[in-house]
Amino acid sequence: MEVKKFSNGFEYVEVKNSVASAKIALQGGHIFHYAHNKKEPILWLSDESVFEVGTAIRGGIPICWPSFGMNNSDLPQHGFARVSMWNLVCVNELNSNTTEVILNLKETQESLKLWDYKFDLELKITISDTLTLEMTTTNLDEKSFKLTQAFHSYFKISDITNISVNGLDSKLYFDALSSYNIRQNGDITFSAELDRVYQNVESPVVLKDTNAEVKLTSQGSSSVVVWNPWIEKCSRMSGMSNEAYKEFVCIETANAFEDFRTLGTRESHILKVTIS
Ligand code: BG6
Repeated sequence: MEVKKFSNGFEYVEVKNSVASAKIALQGGHIFHYAHNKKEPILWLSDESVFEVGTAIRGGIPICWPSFGMNNSDLPQHGFARVSMWNLVCVNELNSNTTEVILNLKETQESLKLWDYKFDLELKITISDTLTLEMTTTNLDEKSFKLTQAFHSYFKISDITNISVNGLDSKLYFDALSSYNIRQNGDITFSAELDRVYQNVESPVVLKDTNAEVKLTSQGSSSVVVWNPWIEKCSRMSGMSNEAYKEFVCIETANAFEDFRTLGTRESHILKVTIS
């Protein structure tokens, strides 16, 4: 393990063990590279992503917390964790194949102005022949809070028209484009903008590409967000080229929409995903 810096001072942890490699930015607790040694990287990272303090990395796995989307209109879209500076707690080499990186975020004067709660947020990222993210939210305040959150995973694909997302057949989803609740029929394929929150999901969800498959197995979550901006929205979005929508799909392990959690004093909730 090594803590490295881009020329502008932006810090990240680089992990290499005998089966996989990863890069994790301290801002956002944001993993922006993971690859099994014998396979292609699975996370998409925009060529136009700026690695600078205060701007979320476009790609990898942004941490949306304590609010997903605009669920809390007092907070920035997807909350503040993705642009906050996390503490590196420790890196544990469990064996030659497995490295655990633990990061932590606590309230600050700035976060209290945005969201008036004391909290402990711990993220354990396990880099092995699979990638696991386990995030524990603990309420350290006297009052309870409502939590919506997501691992906003951007997956690298051969082309958006080649892929399907399986495991969500017959699930109800909230369609963020029409604001209707609709029932999924079959696997998801892509031919236009798509922005959905699937509800009552039992994992796994599987991304199928021409020559590859990625499986997401989750715990502490029953909602999954599936998103691709397609042509027009992509051209309006920051940190990505006009053609970027062809190269990625987001499948986000979440507590979103009706799958919010309420945490009382000293209560914790664990959100976990294993990507294999
Ligand atoms: C997705 C949302 O999770 O994130 C989309 O469903 C949103 O509506 C997308 O456009 C990207 O958000 P942002 O804030 O990273 O540009």
